[in-house]
Amino acid sequence: MSKTVICPGSFDPVTLGHLDIIKRAAKMFDHVIVAVLVNSAKSPCFSTEERMRFLEEVTGDIENVEISSFDGLLAEYCKQRGADAIVKGLRAVSDFEYEFQMAITNKKINPELETIFLMANADSMYLSSSMVREVAAMGGDITNFVPDCIRDEIVERMLTLRK
Ligand code: PNS
Repeated sequence: MSKTVICPGSFDPVTLGHLDIIKRAAKMFDHVIVAVLVNSAKSPCFSTEERMRFLEEVTGDIENVEISSFDGLLAEYCKQRGADAIVKGLRAVSDFEYEFQMAITNKKINPELETIFLMANADSMYLSSSMVREVAAMGGDITNFVPDCIRDEIVERMLTLRK
């Protein structure tokens, strides 16, 4: 039976850490839906369209990955899309409590839904979108943090926002 997993997030912007998780999930599942949260309380720097375009660009060569967006409850979106599970990257210990809380909440809403955590690779253990934005806004080099094809656009935007 074909298995579908949803990889949710703000992706503001997508980092090499996110991409690593998406690629590994694509090897484990038949279909990976990368779902961008539209109305985040975090007030994203990049619009939903931009965040989705970045994701399309960096996952363009992975056949079983689909880029989508959602608004409202993740557990409901999973039900709507017929997903078997949610996949998330787990970084340093500091992620654990919040991720655990979300996984339990999602299971309460939709008892059929599993959350699978993939350990972040060593290079991404402390990497986050907010760190990328901060380094770029201060003129730092983000080469090791984001895929090459979207780097210049991120730097340009962050430097503009700083002015
Ligand atoms: O990349 P992020 O910001 O850590 O992703 C967080 C995300 C999008 C997975 C989370 O905020 C989410 O699932 N939001 C949807 C609202 C929801 O379902 N809330 C109840 C469960 S916590």
